[in-house]
Amino acid sequence: MGAQESYPVDVEAIRADFPILERKVGGDVTTPGEGPDDTEPLVYLDNAATSHTPEPVVEAITDYYRGYNSNVHRGIHQLSQEASVAYEQAHDRVAEFIGAEGREEIIFTKNTTEAENLVAYAWGLNELGPGDNVVLTQMEHHASLVTWQQLCKKTGAEARFIRVDEDGYLDMDHAAELIDEDTRMISVVHVSNTLGTVNPVAELTAMAHEVGAYSFVDAAQSVPNRPVDVGEIDADFLAFSGHKMLGPTGIGVLYGKQHLLEEMEPYLYGGEMIRRVTYEDAEWEDLPWKFEAGTPVIEQGIALVAAIDYLEDVGLEAIQTHEELLAEYAHGRLTERGDVEIYGPPGDDRGGLVAFNVEGVHAHDLSSILNDYAVAIRAGDHCTQPLHDTLGIAASARASFYLYNTKAEVDKLLEAVDAAAELFG
Ligand SMILES: Cc1ncc(COP(=O)(O)O)c(C=O)c1O
Repeated sequence: MGAQESYPVDVEAIRADFPILERKVGGDVTTPGEGPDDTEPLVYLDNAATSHTPEPVVEAITDYYRGYNSNVHRGIHQLSQEASVAYEQAHDRVAEFIGAEGREEIIFTKNTTEAENLVAYAWGLNELGPGDNVVLTQMEHHASLVTWQQLCKKTGAEARFIRVDEDGYLDMDHAAELIDEDTRMISVVHVSNTLGTVNPVAELTAMAHEVGAYSFVDAAQSVPNRPVDVGEIDADFLAFSGHKMLGPTGIGVLYGKQHLLEEMEPYLYGGEMIRRVTYEDAEWEDLPWKFEAGTPVIEQGIALVAAIDYLEDVGLEAIQTHEELLAEYAHGRLTERGDVEIYGPPGDDRGGLVAFNVEGVHAHDLSSILNDYAVAIRAGDHCTQPLHDTLGIAASARASFYLYNTKAEVDKLLEAVDAAAELFG
């Protein structure tokens, strides 16, 4: 459809920045990259798992390796100083992007999962004990769920789960019951990677603060596609991953309020995070370096800046509207079929993804047929196994959209769903 002009973002110009979107697929998978048997134009609808990388981000990576690759904070030589300045400024840029006070509040990790573990171990292991509780939601990603569940087992604290109602929303009355004077932390996913629900994280944070608890917001599915301001949410901790927001793999961000990070013990020990070491003891470096032990994610941090610049140039509000438009369109077209069960809130009240099952077709089979049509989606439990148990399903298919997707690609998805339903029906 020639709906180009009606998109909130300039999809055509954006797509030109992503060479991978010109790829054809369908051939032998043992040789990565396009091969002679790859004939079908790729339709990439697996953005909630990992997004693609625009040219400016690839350039930031190659500029670094071609121009000033060096270890940071260690050398007096020029390359090391250039890399150090760029790496430190990357923290400033991320701070500005999410409304943090400064680089002291921004810790570069490997991913969202490591950020969750950092807080669980550096804070939780020392702070939690029997009688305490940590409040999560039934729709937490395993990154948060398993981390806090296991930490609770270690410390004797209780893990509680806010119920998800049948429309895919959090039961806020249940939240009010669960968050009590023994709650020490709530860990809540901002946008559910399975249901697409946008959770009221500011409200939940306020409820936590009322009882003296802290809040951890898993923003892996929100920072990439909407304006997120840590001050507005008043989150104590918040985390996201570079590879879901046009950046490289291998970098995540943990935001933490400075006074909390200062009080916390380090999570990993070693070089870079110390100021002074003797055989008997050690003193920690200032924030954020205290939490970045060993050679850090230099190239990834620098490239993340290019990703943030790209997202801001397009506009986070416009990206959000674009994703929502595609999700609503896909939701509507899938609903029309009559043989599809969709999980989560209505089409006009969700983030940019749709998880569903087609009657009589296992999600893995569906995904495999879709792959034959060059449509890449995710099938499985999306790292939300307990939620899938609650929904009474083993797996679901998930199409997730981003700034470079089009309605024509949703149409291709539907065409492939037709073929799968016919084959299995
Ligand atoms: C909501 C949510 N939280 C956490 C994660 C974990 O991200 P990572 O694998 O980058 O640590 C994901 C990834 O799918 C996610 O969707």
